Amino acid sequence: MLKITFLGHACFLLDDGTYRVLTDPFLSGNPLAAVNSGEVETDYIFVSHGHGDHVGDTEEIAVRCSAEVGGPVELTGSLFGKSGIKTIPGNIGGRTYLPFGSVKLVPAIHGSGVPGALACGFIFEIGEKRVYFAGDTALTKDMELLRDEGIDVALLPIGDVYTMGPEDAARAAWMIRPGVVVPMHYGTFPIIEQTADRFVECMQTAAAGIPVRVLAPGESLEYPD
Ligand code: NI
Ligand code: MN
Repeated sequence: MLKITFLGHACFLLDDGTYRVLTDPFLSGNPLAAVNSGEVETDYIFVSHGHGDHVGDTEEIAVRCSAEVGGPVELTGSLFGKSGIKTIPGNIGGRTYLPFGSVKLVPAIHGSGVPGALACGFIFEIGEKRVYFAGDTALTKDMELLRDEGIDVALLPIGDVYTMGPEDAARAAWMIRPGVVVPMHYGTFPIIEQTADRFVECMQTAAAGIPVRVLAPGESLEYPD
């Protein structure tokens, strides 16, 4: 069993009942954050790239929870390497086995915010499920390769401007063919203001048959439910 809680923007908490994995914990200064940074409990934090709306409260949460921080090697080194936080460095294409399962860094087409680093997405194996967290990315044909990974849950940005919009996110979902899709990275700021309605509509035409779960900040899904 795997429980996935949406905490706002690109921040999700994955919980298999034993281990907790947090993604891109931008909570302070996030108008849609479901919790304060001081309320989150986690064992691991994974940061997809160095932009402020993804690094967020990583350092504070990592120190308070003694959580390990994973991501592209240049990012974990430059942002967290000197702070005493235990890091899990990786690079695109590589998988690291960890007590909860594993994490694989996969390509994202996006700026990294840290010199020398590449932005990435993650495939987490946790609770015997596979979760694709896309991070910030454009639609890319590489996503077809994810179909072979047997993705159960895909967490896809739909906000446009900085990432895929609803149309491209639905095309991505069709390439990936996950068990369920959850939209993220929309509505947080005026520039990416929108609901998930257009995405749901696009899914019906571009990716018919793939279920969508729209989670409000603070809402969870259990997979399978
Ligand atoms: Ni970004
Ligand atoms: Mn972003």
